[in-house]
Parts: sequence; C-alpha cells; structure tokens
Amino acid sequence: MCFDSCLIKARLLEWLKSLHKDIIIKITSKNVIRSLFSVLHTTSRDMENTHLQPDLSEQNGSNYDREKELIAFDETKAGVKGLVDAGIQKLPSFFVVPENEVSSIASPKLSPTYVQIPFIDLKDIDEDTDRHKEIVEQIRNASETWGFFQVVNHGISKEVMEGMIEGVRRFHEQPTEVKMEYYSRSQRKKVKYNSNFDLHKAKVANWRDTLYCYMPYGDEPDPEELPEVCREMSVKYSEHARGLAVTILQLLSEALGLEPNHLIDIDCDKGLNIVSHYYPACPEPNRTLGATPHKDPFFITILMQDHIGGLQVFHQNQWIDVRPLPGSFVVNIGDLLQLISNDKFKSAVHRVLASHIGPRISVACFFKSHLSSSDRLYGPLKELLSDENPPLYRESGVMDYLIKYNTKGLDGGTTTLNHFRL
Ligand code: OGA
Ligand code: NI
Repeated sequence: MCFDSCLIKARLLEWLKSLHKDIIIKITSKNVIRSLFSVLHTTSRDMENTHLQPDLSEQNGSNYDREKELIAFDETKAGVKGLVDAGIQKLPSFFVVPENEVSSIASPKLSPTYVQIPFIDLKDIDEDTDRHKEIVEQIRNASETWGFFQVVNHGISKEVMEGMIEGVRRFHEQPTEVKMEYYSRSQRKKVKYNSNFDLHKAKVANWRDTLYCYMPYGDEPDPEELPEVCREMSVKYSEHARGLAVTILQLLSEALGLEPNHLIDIDCDKGLNIVSHYYPACPEPNRTLGATPHKDPFFITILMQDHIGGLQVFHQNQWIDVRPLPGSFVVNIGDLLQLISNDKFKSAVHRVLASHIGPRISVACFFKSHLSSSDRLYGPLKELLSDENPPLYRESGVMDYLIKYNTKGLDGGTTTLNHFRL
C-alpha cells in the first residue's frame, strides 16, 4: 500500500469521513490516519459499497502480517474506542479468538441461577463479636472454595462509587487528542492509558481500553499527573478503596488464623494499582472477549463494575456470571495470596465477555507491596506451616513474580504460580 500518493491520501480521508464524520475532526495527524487505515483495511473486505476499495493483496492468506497490524493499531493511540468511533463492523483479525475456543463464548451456557458467588454483608462487623466471627467464617469459606466473593455494606458511599465510574467514562470519552497524551507502555509511568497491556505478547487482543494509576501508599503521583477529568475522583476513590482493602485484609488474616494486622504488617496493601477498564460495545461479541481468562497476580483485587455485566468466574468446571449487584464490590484472591497461604486460599480464573451493549466500565484495585520500596520476599507464611502442611512454594519478590506474569500476558489462566512451586 503506497501512502505517498496525494490521491490515495485524499481518497482515504474521504473514505474515513464516510465511515464516521467526527473522525476527521478528532484525528488530525497523518500518522494516525495512516495507522488507523492500516488497521481498518483488513476488515474492509466485508464492507460493501465503499467507494474506496483498499489493496488487500498483502492481507490475504499467509502474507497477513499480524505484528504490523498491532503496531498500526497501537500507533493510533485511539484504542478499541477509536475503532468503534470509526464505525468498524468487522473485527480486525488480531481480536478474533481461535475457532476451537469460540464455542464457550458464542453460546455461553447460562450459568445456573442457583449457583452464585458468595455474598457477604459486612454490616455490624465492628459492633457485634458474634457477627464478626460469622463474617470471618464466610470469608474463609469463600476464599477457600471460590477465591471470589461480593461484599455489601462496606462503608463506601454510592456517590463515591458512581463518581469514579463517571470519571472513568469522562477519561475514555474525551477527545482522542487529549487522551493520547497519556498513551504509553512504559513500566516507569505511574499514570498511563493504553489498549491491551499485553498487546504484543498475548495470542488474542481484548476488546477493551484501560487507564492505569499506580498510587502506592505514601508515594502517590503528584495529583497534576492524574488526568484532569478524573483527578479529584481518583484521589478520593483511592483513599476509600485502601480503607476497604485494610478491612478485607484484616478479615482474611483472621480467616487464616492470624492476628488481624498480619497481612497489613507484611505490606500486602501498600502498592495500589487502580486499573480502570472501558469495554466499548462490540459489533461481533461472539468472536472476541473483553478479557481473556486469567488469574490476578497480586494479593487481593477489589473490583467495582457498572450495571452491564459480563464478568464470569470459572468454578467447578463451568463459567459462572458475577452479577452486577448495585452498590457491591467484587473481591478476589490473587496468586500471591494463594502462595503465602500455601494454597489454602484460591486464585480463580475469570474472564469478561464482550457484548453488543456498551460501553461497560469497571475499576479494578490491585493490592500488592510497593515495588520500589519493598524488596521483601514472599513465601508460604511460617505460622501456617507444619509437618502435615509443608511449604509448597519457594520465596519470591513481587517484582520477580510480576516479570514472570508479564512475559506471557493474559494466557487463559495458566498459572504463573507453577514457576514458584517446589
Ligand atoms: C482485571 C479483571 C474484570 C472486569 O482487571 O483483572 O479481571 O470486570 N477485570 O473488568
Ligand atoms: Ni482479573
């Protein structure tokens, strides 16, 4: 495809305009147009009646250059939302899941209504000793059997929850030129946005874009670094989420038979990564996923989802919907908590379905130790070990763990934990 001809450029602009009027206003850089066109033109074979038929000869069969398409997509810095805004009707190939994996997505078995992830009401947790014990028991049971549970009466107001969802919506829906300033894959940036953190490693790309704000305790980014449209809410939300994490980690410590502050004392709450996903409506939801099956790498994840749904957890050989319950948070155990609990608590595989309905917004708070200040090693907690319960894992730093996790990207749930198993 020769982009140097003025004629082609003019016709390309015309073609893009015909797809979506706004795109010309939103996208001014020629490089962006070039990249976007490169992504779009593989899918355009299915578009009839367009007055510009791109040269598809390079895209057929074995000459399909996936890496080139990924780079072109990345260079738009407009994410999946950019494709949707451009009026795409067919998925670029790098989003399409292999034929043999399609069946569980295309006709997902409705999860039986009587199987639901554990629901835990935190009301009166500090007022009533018996109630407190009961809640610890529920958390222990949920963490051993499911690795997932939903909490209500957690003390975070509806205003804070809805305010954060709206802040995330504003970030992803602001003009592309503003948003693209944050587009980055640098590990060093505390605040960044991109589409698919594992774009160049994962087998299939996911139908979502993500904003990341790393807010470690005492070493938070300068508020100026946070996007203006969600600055105030992100700071407020991080404080509330951290407070809830402390409560949950105390309950989990007790559920392991330890002192309430045990998991806090070993820094499980100090590094907070707020990961805000935007899943645009998908024109072909049966051919891709919002998130590939995976386990979360850290100690705990506290997730807020909006009303759309699509999150599922793999439990006893079937996918179970995690229903969006207004005002609730989803809590799940990550790999590192499975490791330090010596397999007592389970890190469960989960995924997100794509949908015709959207956008869907979710905010995942991942809790780990703060990477730059902690060289702490994590192994099975000594207090839990005995002759009958010998250690199952060697010690690992959070960074080692993360490097292993990130070498593959989301990979269908194959656990990184196996690398650390004795
Ligand atoms: C994640 C995740 C689920 C969701 O960010 O790890 O599983 O509902 N998110 O967005
Ligand atoms: Ni996850």
